[in-house]
Amino acid sequence: MKRNRIDRALKLSSMKEELLQLTFTTFHQVTGSETAYEEMKQAVTNFEERGKVGIMLFGETGNGKTHLTAAGANEMIKRGYSVIFLTEKDLFSRLSETKRFSNPESLSEIMQTCYEADLLIWDDFLSSQRLSAEEKDWTFQIVNGRERANKPIWFTSNLSAEEFEHKQTPFKLDDKGRTWWRILANCVCVYNRANNFREQLVIKRARGMKA
Ligand SMILES: Nc1ncnc2c1ncn2[C@@H]1O[C@H](COP(=O)(O)OP(=O)(O)OP(=O)(O)O)[C@@H](O)[C@H]1O
Ligand SMILES: [Mg+2]
Repeated sequence: MKRNRIDRALKLSSMKEELLQLTFTTFHQVTGSETAYEEMKQAVTNFEERGKVGIMLFGETGNGKTHLTAAGANEMIKRGYSVIFLTEKDLFSRLSETKRFSNPESLSEIMQTCYEADLLIWDDFLSSQRLSAEEKDWTFQIVNGRERANKPIWFTSNLSAEEFEHKQTPFKLDDKGRTWWRILANCVCVYNRANNFREQLVIKRARGMKA
């Protein structure tokens, strides 16, 4: 039955070929991402012991959050775990599409897959400018469902350090802050201070240097 779970998780994932190639080996040790790198390694090595303890990796665009998380996810897939890798946008689209008559996938099937996968990667958390009531509800259900099942979520997010600590941020997810505080209570939060890698590449190229 484990095989079915792995297949369902993969089917739901939006892992493109390039994400599947990302590894710890191809991640350069750069200033500012030491803690993020260590935490991700830890999360893979101690996956069973950590239970529902996930990761909230946040910081500026292009500084390796998705790379590191995909590296961890690929390692977990290699070890035979069921892993769902979804951007927030894709997750909400997949859930929303179930409302179409012609769609063979039901909302409850997708939710079930989200609860039961060994690992859920939520890439680009809070990237939606404004969440609809339905999206807020789905988010709560998934977060709560995985907490009950003692299973982790690894989040990446573009939230800045200021936004992360801003007193209004918890209310983006619901008017009581229930979802936000559940997420934070279940995650090790790591601020990735590394610079924007894409920007560095562009600068190097512009200067005629080898990337
Ligand atoms: N330390 C690094 N070593 C090697 N490649 C890196 C490193 N950091 C980033 N990259 C590369 O730079 C690109 C952008 O990184 P990534 O997609 O992980 O950024 P991100 O932090 O998730 O950005 P965003 O917040 O916009 O989603 C990718 O091609 C990634 O492989
Ligand atoms: Mg990213």
